[in-house]
Amino acid sequence: MEKFLLVLFAYLLGSVLPGEIIAKLKGVNLREVGSGNVGATNVSRVLGKKFGALVFFLDMLKGFIPTYLAISFYGVESKAVMFAGIASVLGHMFSIFDRFRGGKGVATAFGVILAVSFKLALLSLLVWFVILQWKRYVSLASITASVVAPLLFLISGYPSHIFLMGIVIAVLIVYKHKPNIDRLLRGQELKV
Ligand code: G3P
Repeated sequence: MEKFLLVLFAYLLGSVLPGEIIAKLKGVNLREVGSGNVGATNVSRVLGKKFGALVFFLDMLKGFIPTYLAISFYGVESKAVMFAGIASVLGHMFSIFDRFRGGKGVATAFGVILAVSFKLALLSLLVWFVILQWKRYVSLASITASVVAPLLFLISGYPSHIFLMGIVIAVLIVYKHKPNIDRLLRGQELKV
């Protein structure tokens, strides 16, 4: 029961969309500008880097807090960690407070990785940064880092359910980036 409540908390916390709330307070509807996404990248495009950084931090916390709590209560060997991590990302992507719409889950997934391992979070960030510097596409950097993350869990010897969590989150992130992938293939994706 306790574990179920933690997973529910993860989903509900993930469902709160700081990007959308902050933009609304500034009189902007993120769905109608830039990429139409409610994440930090689009907030940065539309409201500037400071607000982008704030939204990244808040979205990241939504993944970090429940995953960290699951690890503290039950240990990384518990499958509750996997369910809490996935639930937080699902909440962000399919928010119960926003008619099951939401963002692309990258910052929230980063928070999940950070709760599991500071070192692997830094490595994922490094992959993201290198791809961004090389190609100038945030979406391509995010997709690549999200696919690399489960491999990092695997080679670092984490339990198989942590690897599985990484795979599920990567699949969800790639799925949510479908419009970006289409634009990348057409050469129409926005560069930074
Ligand atoms: O984290 C989302 C990023 O990968 C893409 O954002 O706004 O360019 O679709 P956006």
